[in-house]
Amino acid sequence: MDVRDAIASRYSCRSFLPTPIPEKTVREIVERAARAPSAGNIQPWRVDAIAGERLEALRVLMRPRMSELPKGEGTEYPIYPADLNPPYSDRRVAVGEMLYRSIGVPREDKAARYRQYARNFEFFGAPVGLFVSIERSFVLGQWIDLGSFIQNIMLLARDYGLHTCPQEAWASFPRTISTFIDLPDTTMLFCGIALGHANEQATINSWRAPRAPLRDFATFSGFAD
Ligand SMILES: Cc1cc2nc3c(=O)[nH]c(=O)nc-3n(C[C@H](O)[C@H](O)[C@H](O)COP(=O)(O)O)c2cc1C
Repeated sequence: MDVRDAIASRYSCRSFLPTPIPEKTVREIVERAARAPSAGNIQPWRVDAIAGERLEALRVLMRPRMSELPKGEGTEYPIYPADLNPPYSDRRVAVGEMLYRSIGVPREDKAARYRQYARNFEFFGAPVGLFVSIERSFVLGQWIDLGSFIQNIMLLARDYGLHTCPQEAWASFPRTISTFIDLPDTTMLFCGIALGHANEQATINSWRAPRAPLRDFATFSGFAD
């Protein structure tokens, strides 16, 4: 698969088949993803991959946690700015509406929306969950590098016929997850990534989030032709 196809075919997959993924495949994806550039070649990423019984144990652990703390434990970093303004706020609302419309959940049905949100904590049925973490001492520059690394994981997954969903939802349970994967105190969980084969029949995977037209976010000048 060439890089254009990998980029074009990646989307946030929210329903997976249970088909197991060999450890070797996951190791290869993570190892190759570490070809991502990083300022000073610091390579500021850490990955904890879980599957099988270990992943099932996490799902079992999360169910009562979700009931106790429906909104989570509080994030250790801000996921959005306090005042998200247009056009960004409009895009966020629009993608949420597309997601819930695809599964027939009306906007006002908060319980059904929450049930879908809670699927995050089952990795949407994926057979592999990756947790991506970063040293607490690191600054904005290293967080950007982490983004390149995560994107590499998601594009490489396409090359192996797999799909992904990056999930900041996991960052709302930092204590539970840090304990579960035994993160050192000096390290902060950034996100989870669900990894596996897409359930192509699921309507939640049937739509694609739109993008703003090029003119809205880029300028070009001085080109000869
Ligand atoms: C860092 C990051 C965290 C995200 N967290 C979640 C999440 O917790 N749950 C979820 O369903 N989607 C999550 N998404 C997916 C975004 O909603 C999605 O990327 C966006 O709507 C664009 O859609 P696309 O990825 O299908 O192109 C996340 C994406 C990123 C990059």
